[in-house]
Amino acid sequence: MSRFWSPLVHSLTPYVAGEQPRIHGLIKLNTNENPYGPSPRTLAAIKAAADDTLRLYPDPTGLALRQVIADSHGLSVDEVFVGNGSDEVLAHCFQALLNHDQPLLFPDISYSFYPTYCRLYGIDFRTIPLDAAMRVQVADYKGPCGAIILPNPNAPTGIALPLSEIETLLRDHPDQVVVIDEAYVDFGAESAIPLVKTYPNLLVVHTLSKSRSLAGLRVGFAVGQRPLIEAMERVKDSFNSYPLDRLALAGAVAAWTDQDWFETHRQRIIASREALTVALQGLGFEVLPSAANFLFARHPDRAGKELAAALREKAILIRHFQKDRIGDFLRITVGTEAECARLVAALGEVLG
Ligand SMILES: Cc1ncc(COP(=O)(O)O)c(C=O)c1O
Repeated sequence: MSRFWSPLVHSLTPYVAGEQPRIHGLIKLNTNENPYGPSPRTLAAIKAAADDTLRLYPDPTGLALRQVIADSHGLSVDEVFVGNGSDEVLAHCFQALLNHDQPLLFPDISYSFYPTYCRLYGIDFRTIPLDAAMRVQVADYKGPCGAIILPNPNAPTGIALPLSEIETLLRDHPDQVVVIDEAYVDFGAESAIPLVKTYPNLLVVHTLSKSRSLAGLRVGFAVGQRPLIEAMERVKDSFNSYPLDRLALAGAVAAWTDQDWFETHRQRIIASREALTVALQGLGFEVLPSAANFLFARHPDRAGKELAAALREKAILIRHFQKDRIGDFLRITVGTEAECARLVAALGEVLG
């Protein structure tokens, strides 16, 4: 606290990111990063971009990246917005599109940055409880609201909604923006991007942090019809004209077009997720059906906090949220095959 703070700062409850400790030999399964390094083509492109041109500002519009994204989805570049990680894309979207007289709706158990953005931008919001099976029920979103935002698959549950239900949501709310946050979609859910042409109220947000293994580069994007993208651009150009630097643009274009690397590694993570699910079930865990690169699991006999602490003692970091309804769950990022094996062995020891 300080008398120099503006009133807004006093009212903020900042988002708490997962730890990034520098402990040698640590198995880090707490922030849903990709366990495999980025594609060699991506690294080569970043290295090649590290030259004399760094004295120049990057392209403020990120055109080359928007072009490859647009081409891969049969969209026009004007329907693609790029930003410094999808967190920044989401932040602009909250300010540009989600602030209305009626409250913004999102699930009670969801990405914890959403309420943070609401407080930052003064957006009234209402959370809609997941059902007893921790699933989003789109019928619960009926009724007046200003806008809706949902991750699909949801985080931290990992449970995905089928496209037909996203479409129901869009049809039920023709006059409200519906944002689908697809940070984890490549690990097994259906993307809503093909619906963009039909629904002027749909904005789909995506990241290169997870399935393209570029969390450290900070690249995210949104696709939607032109009026939604124009709103995002107006906010962006009132905030930071150059959100993506030259290295990020070069790396992101290479990563986006390296289809072989993407396909191989996402399949590998999906296979590890399925094997890890079976192994955890074998230890007595209830594991929610995940379409993401993480699992959300609880043990009937042991508190989540206790298990998280015991794993930490063994240099394995997972994420635990001390919150209503999910206090006994562990959110476990799917690691390499070797990391998953170490995790299962460690849990076996802890559980006796
Ligand atoms: C649901 C969801 N959306 C968005 C993000 C932000 O990702 P990034 O800012 O790395 O693109 C995350 C990060 O973990 C997430 O879990």
